[in-house]
Amino acid sequence: MTKALVLGGSGFVGRALLTALGSDAVGAHHSRPWPGSIPFDATRDDLAALLDRAGEGISRLYLLHGAANPEICAQDPVGTAAINVVSVKRMVADAVARGILPIFVSSDYVHDGTRGGRTEVEPLTPITEYGRQKAEVEEWMASLDRPWLVARLSKVVSEAECAHSVLGQLVPQIRGGATLRMATDQIFSPAHVDDVARALAELPLRGARGVVNVAGPVAWSRYDLTACLLAAIRRRDPTVTATLVPCSLRDIPFREQRPLNTSLDTTKLHSLLPWRFRPMEEVCERIAEAAFGPTRE
Ligand SMILES: NC(=O)c1ccc[n+]([C@@H]2O[C@H](COP(=O)([O-])OP(=O)(O)OC[C@H]3O[C@@H](n4cnc5c(N)ncnc54)[C@H](OP(=O)(O)O)[C@@H]3O)[C@@H](O)[C@H]2O)c1
Repeated sequence: MTKALVLGGSGFVGRALLTALGSDAVGAHHSRPWPGSIPFDATRDDLAALLDRAGEGISRLYLLHGAANPEICAQDPVGTAAINVVSVKRMVADAVARGILPIFVSSDYVHDGTRGGRTEVEPLTPITEYGRQKAEVEEWMASLDRPWLVARLSKVVSEAECAHSVLGQLVPQIRGGATLRMATDQIFSPAHVDDVARALAELPLRGARGVVNVAGPVAWSRYDLTACLLAAIRRRDPTVTATLVPCSLRDIPFREQRPLNTSLDTTKLHSLLPWRFRPMEEVCERIAEAAFGPTRE
């Protein structure tokens, strides 16, 4: 395989993916350019224009761009579908016609959350607009008569303090002594962004095709994951006053009811990769160490 083009390269996962791919990749931005990135407006641009900008030899097209916030999708179903569904289908159709492998990054929100450990072959049952948009693309891709890959992600975490980084975003709140209300009934399969990126980079080269759950091997509740981070931080700074309060996901006033248990079965992923995703305990230690220094014990 030769070069990869990453749509959504300026995003949380896209940046890590470009690092994992190294010099074999070109990234596209929408509003946040960086040196070497190419401009991309999903509502306007077609693949031909992007390939002109990206240069010769693109054989893999990663599609990570779009509105990744379920609240925004619920608020503007038509506007977000234009990017998350219409532009993705257009790009994928054009890619397969040119013999380029499309790699679509989907979400555990394609499931209704009534039980966890979902495999890749179970029927899709989304209950949110974001999940329906992801499911629509997945189901359409399954009808393609050329090779394709769908990577279904669960929650992605890192030390970054941006909105999409489930753990890192808590660090400023913990520093400020906040009360953290976390759902005990929201269960997912968290994975560190660098592991997700490495898997996304390697899977196509290892021959993965169809749907693959790209997620951590252990299901965590949001409450337990936050408790793990808080404990790691307290080992470094016992004076931290932040408190953790259990709640239900149903107590949080979202526009739509959210799926409760979206944890994923990762048997297929493990059969494809010779290495394992790092455990969340290790990730929490690393985040705590970066933010609060070494342990005091
Ligand atoms: N993060 C997670 O925990 C998670 C979990 C499950 C699935 N996913 C999926 O993984 C993918 C990446 O997620 P992420 O967290 O990296 O999202 P993100 O940080 O919000 O990145 C979104 C990307 O889409 C680009 N974009 C937005 N609107 C665009 C438009 N109109 N035209 C072209 N590009 C546009 C953004 O470009 P600019 O920044 O340059 O504007 C950015 O590069 C998404 O498909 C998401 O659904 C993520």
